Amino acid sequence: MPDHVRIFDTTLRDGEQAPGIALAEAEKLEIAEQLARLGVDVLEAGFPASSAGEFEAVRRIARNVKGPVIAALCRASDGDVDRAWEAIRDAQHGRLHVFISTSDIHMDSMLRMSREDVLEATRRAVRRARGYTEDVEYSAQDATRTDPEFMLEAFHAAVEEGATTLNVPDTVGYALPHEFAELVRAAREAMPEHVTISVHCHNDLGLAVANSLAGVLAGARQVEVAVNGIGERAGNCSLEELAMIVATRGQATGLAHGLHVKEIARTSRLVSKLTGYPVQPNKAVVGANAFAHESGIHQHGVLMNRATYEIMDPTAIGYEGSKIVLGKHSGRHAFADALAGLGVRLEPDALDRAFARFKDLADRKISLTDADLEAIAAEELGAGVGEAFVMESLAVAGGTHLSPTATVRLRRGEETVEDSAMGDGMIDAAYGAIGRATAVAATLVSYNVSAVTGGSDALGDVVVQLEVGGRLVTGRGLAPDVVEASARAYLAAINRALAVTSTEEVSA
Ligand code: KIV
Ligand code: ZN
Repeated sequence: MPDHVRIFDTTLRDGEQAPGIALAEAEKLEIAEQLARLGVDVLEAGFPASSAGEFEAVRRIARNVKGPVIAALCRASDGDVDRAWEAIRDAQHGRLHVFISTSDIHMDSMLRMSREDVLEATRRAVRRARGYTEDVEYSAQDATRTDPEFMLEAFHAAVEEGATTLNVPDTVGYALPHEFAELVRAAREAMPEHVTISVHCHNDLGLAVANSLAGVLAGARQVEVAVNGIGERAGNCSLEELAMIVATRGQATGLAHGLHVKEIARTSRLVSKLTGYPVQPNKAVVGANAFAHESGIHQHGVLMNRATYEIMDPTAIGYEGSKIVLGKHSGRHAFADALAGLGVRLEPDALDRAFARFKDLADRKISLTDADLEAIAAEELGAGVGEAFVMESLAVAGGTHLSPTATVRLRRGEETVEDSAMGDGMIDAAYGAIGRATAVAATLVSYNVSAVTGGSDALGDVVVQLEVGGRLVTGRGLAPDVVEASARAYLAAINRALAVTSTEEVSA
């Protein structure tokens, strides 16, 4: 019998700490529901003490998402533990995840606490968490730069107070696989059997997946992952890569997990769309080229027998040809049904807006595919936060002999604003006009255009990252025309910046 390794997903906590990601509550819920469909064992919904918005999002997930254990992160302080519990108390099964740094560099320079202080804080916080729930995880932050003896001392203190999972984070992505394996083995051997050892690896040296695998081979039975590998700096261990290593090499590793891997492709697409983080084309498992064969010899081989050059079946991960589903004659019911078939559930307001967008796009494009519908839903999930600006019209003019100009008309509640600008190109002019109309000064940081599906009638899907008042925000826009898609993305990012300015004071 293979050993079960628990999949602890931290896309909505560590993943959301990636620069520029600020998910709206409805987007977080949508991702959480998809993670539940994927079958993750534990879903870390967020860090409730970090902001009021984060607290609400975690509470909503805890109340609505069934299946996985819902975890909330908290620092080792009474206030954080209480706040985290308040957010997840209504979950079917809730977990409190207490963390504190144990490395000398973090304790001296950041916490300004002695080892004894950290042990005391550990004991107190775990005890308090155990007063609320039997499921308590303890993380020794920066474990791989911690004196191993002290990490074990902190673990002992946590276990004495009732922690049931002990996490070994490679917080700064510093460890090499054999070193990490040794540390995990030491923890496994020193701790009582009923306690689960967990690993949490960052990707600063590109070793997050290798280190996580080394950790589970050394005895960890929980692995902390994020969809598409997103997370602080270079990110976390990628869920899909770890999942497919175990699924493909189960015999060699002696491991198994309970994920429904057929949901992997959709989960990856959804997270990419809602976070605005594109997946690199050559990324293992979920990159656009992961199953593309360019050389003639490879193509010939795959046509004869897929297994000549493919070690995984793309259809098993959920890659099926995009179907043509709906056109301009389709009604609201058919639209809602098609979304439900894709696992997307929108609140009535968002559904109304999405349907209006669908009609608008279907009028301009003959038919829409599954991927188009997912993109429309993604665009609408992020919209409608706060008092958003809505684009009523955009007119652009330009060409080789004409200075590019744009005029935009926006509505916000009852108010309508219109403004114009010139620019270096039509997209630049549109951005200038939006900036003037919204009176928000933003700097474009990055710009990414892709087609949702192939062909000349594809929808342009544009993601922008803006710097607005010192924070990075992303926005996405969808339209058959790339200037309009770009303008919509820019406006979406401004709306997001306006909606989230009060949140995210702290991150782990
Ligand atoms: O990287 C890290 O150490 C963390 C902890 C909060 C688990 O994210
Ligand atoms: Zn982390």
